[in-house]
Amino acid sequence: MKYSSELITWSSTFSCGIKLIDGQHKEFITLVNEMFCHATGNEEQEHEYFSKVIKKAVHHIKVHFATEEKIMRTIHYPGYAEHKRDHDSFVFEILGNIRDYETEKHYTLYSFTKYLKEWILSHIGVMDKQYFLYLKKMVVARKAGGRSRDVSADIA
Ligand SMILES: [Fe+2]
Ligand SMILES: [Fe+2]
Repeated sequence: MKYSSELITWSSTFSCGIKLIDGQHKEFITLVNEMFCHATGNEEQEHEYFSKVIKKAVHHIKVHFATEEKIMRTIHYPGYAEHKRDHDSFVFEILGNIRDYETEKHYTLYSFTKYLKEWILSHIGVMDKQYFLYLKKMVVARKAGGRSRDVSADIA
């Protein structure tokens, strides 16, 4: 395996405590790791694999973004518009980059996967983290107010 140093290991720092979201983020990481494993340098095999995997990846990304956006609307998250813009611009960008890969203008399977990895990790670490923290604060405030029911149970 050529790029084993690129593989991502799930860590608790990625965790938001909502099972559904953590599960979707874990699936992303598994997918990215799988893509690195297929980056062998054999262009024909890489292209064949890419055309199959990328549909699954884009579907997964869209489902995940819709899930997060629903949660953010439910909790009236003040950073919703900015977060949604980041999701939307990524979808737009990735579709362009897929076309570039497929038409061999740019990217190898390795560099494409690396781009995906960097976006996902920085988005989880910065943008997603902000709404996790907001959600946690809300849960604490509700508990302090005598309502011990965890809001995350409503969402997940
Ligand atoms: Fe996310
Ligand atoms: Fe997000």
